[in-house]
Amino acid sequence: NQAQSGPQWERHTTELTNCIVAFLSPILPTEEEYRIKEATRRQLERLANRVSPGSKLLAFGSMANGFALRNSDMDLCCLIGKGPDGQPTTHHTASELVEILGQLIREETDFTVMPLPKARIPIIKINRSPTTDLPYEIACDIGFENRLALENTRLLLSYAMVDPTRLRTLVLFLKVWTKRRKLNSPYMGTLSSYGYTLLVLYFLTHVKKPAVLPNLQRLPPTRPMKPDEMELNGNNIYFYDDVATLRKEWSSQNTDNVGELLVDFFRYFSKEFSYARDVISLKSENGLIPKDGKTWNAELCIEDPFQAGYNVSRTVTKDGLYTIRGEFMRASRYLTNMRGQKISVLIAELC
Ligand code: GTP
Ligand code: MG
Repeated sequence: NQAQSGPQWERHTTELTNCIVAFLSPILPTEEEYRIKEATRRQLERLANRVSPGSKLLAFGSMANGFALRNSDMDLCCLIGKGPDGQPTTHHTASELVEILGQLIREETDFTVMPLPKARIPIIKINRSPTTDLPYEIACDIGFENRLALENTRLLLSYAMVDPTRLRTLVLFLKVWTKRRKLNSPYMGTLSSYGYTLLVLYFLTHVKKPAVLPNLQRLPPTRPMKPDEMELNGNNIYFYDDVATLRKEWSSQNTDNVGELLVDFFRYFSKEFSYARDVISLKSENGLIPKDGKTWNAELCIEDPFQAGYNVSRTVTKDGLYTIRGEFMRASRYLTNMRGQKISVLIAELC
């Protein structure tokens, strides 16, 4: 292994950084893709309004948090409208709304519709194949009243604005890499994109010294907060969201480039993080809380930033974690021994 410091290492990681940026650039969404997806959102919102006047259909997940790749799924959340009396304009349950709106979308659009009214979180899955007019496949999940998802999307977006280049590049690269290495399938025992994003945030906020990001959930507010900005269904959803001020008043002392951070990320999660002992908890003082065997008995534990005690990585099985760690080690090895290799080739092999 070559020394991971000094001018040679710096040249390597600079080249690695440039290659990652070049690798990502052709797989980012185009303006046109955003336009088509926004038009689709509006079309669906009009239908939602026929079921419940005043409803809003809001994007969350990657289309709204700045971490989208080309052709990512669209996550939409329907917030039920309120009448002049302040009462909701429909009293149907989420499961019923899935059936009703699903039926309407089937009748009024050319989407293929699959309602999942019995899922833990009832959703409507819809998709449409690309046509010559609309050369994009659209896959979209529509849920109801999932305000926590809207809030954690806003949290991720705020982090993305504090350090616009390094965080976003790392998350996007990890998304491509985990998808290509088949590590991004919660239904198959591995971890969601949201889970990997939380790993990166934890790493940049709590592991790297000096930190690349501040802990937004622990910075004191600079303005009076309304009660509904502090709490949602018993969850503390406060975070510092005055990004404009933060960008003026806070700057990271950490000057590592994306290449160095990526190498470090893989090394940390290959051999430094204690999977058996610790729970990753972004909002906590130092990012970790001990596993206690009762609440936290899964293979990998990542606490949701807003839902205390809720494990975002509950889908990860023993085999899944074994595979993920094996891949972290492989990646760490590749990137550490990149002596004299053509780095664009290395990235292609890594993915
Ligand atoms: P891609 O779809 O792979 O592009 O990634 P994404 O950024 O959309 O992430 P993902 O599909 O994993 O999750 C989308 C959004 O769903 C996240 O931003 C969260 O708002 C929400 N979400 C996903 N999983 C969970 C979870 O386990 N708990 C909670 N509270 N929210 C989740
Ligand atoms: Mg998504």
